[in-house]
Amino acid sequence: MYSEKNIMNSILDIKSISKSFSKGRKINGNEKQQVLINKLNLTVERGKVTTLIGGNGTGKTTLFNLISGFLDADEGNIIFKNSKKTTLTGMPSHKIEQLGIGRLFQDNHIFPELTVFENMIIAYKDDFGELPLEVLFKARKSKKTEKQREEKAKQILEMLFGKKNEFWQKRNHLAKNMSYGQQRLLGLARLFMSNYKLVLLDEPTAGVNIKLNDTIGEIIKKMVLENDITVFLIEHNMRFVKQISDTCAFINNGEIEISGTPEEVIANENVRKSYLGT
Ligand SMILES: Nc1ncnc2c1ncn2[C@@H]1O[C@H](COP(=O)(O)OP(=O)(O)OP(=O)(O)O)[C@@H](O)[C@H]1O
Ligand SMILES: [Mg+2]
Repeated sequence: MYSEKNIMNSILDIKSISKSFSKGRKINGNEKQQVLINKLNLTVERGKVTTLIGGNGTGKTTLFNLISGFLDADEGNIIFKNSKKTTLTGMPSHKIEQLGIGRLFQDNHIFPELTVFENMIIAYKDDFGELPLEVLFKARKSKKTEKQREEKAKQILEMLFGKKNEFWQKRNHLAKNMSYGQQRLLGLARLFMSNYKLVLLDEPTAGVNIKLNDTIGEIIKKMVLENDITVFLIEHNMRFVKQISDTCAFINNGEIEISGTPEEVIANENVRKSYLGT
């Protein structure tokens, strides 16, 4: 299915992973199980953008939860290849993050009661595994690290949004007072604070004004081309998928039914019938 070259260049190998959920009610003493992900295989190529597409409730976010350790798989292996190979399956989420895997959640996971700048600062690399508010407290206490963090946050905001960007201008405003789209951009900007090697973006353009799609596309490009970050994302907007993806994978009935270039996958009859409805 995948060429030898792709296997050699992969950063993440998902091997025959399965996950079932209990449907709640017990029937004849046995709990009914829904097999959501069924022996799924997928390879994420290093230095590229891989997009996972599929219908609502087909297990896309669940797959991200399995990769980032928020859920345990029933069977199978997930292997992350950074400086060495590490089996992620069974590892707690903060350890997986420490290895260099970051995530943008489907619902915004920024801190609404903190300022724009505080949201950036608590995402700093050295702070893996610590509680966000402890990090902020420490940053305020130590002048030297505070300066480093601030400098890094400033540089990232300038790199992404230009010299006189509104995030810098509004750095002392509470994050909750920004629009949903701006909060989404802030969530993406925070991922640059941590030197991640792989980021999982769960529907980065969802609920965002279409005008911001280009900005989000540019940010993803900067991740891959200028910052050595591999991007694995979930997305429903097919125009966006075509614009940014190197590889596209279609999840259906618990497995990857087809993967290839976005054009190949979108042209596939099964994808058209069962997902795109065209
Ligand atoms: N922790 C859980 N316990 C029980 N059921 C769950 C759990 N997590 C997800 N599910 C169920 O698994 C199914 C798939 O959910 P998931 O969030 O992975 O879908 P998705 O492909 O991301 O959908 P969408 O495109 O709507 O975001 C849903 O029916 C959901 O209710
Ligand atoms: Mg989802």
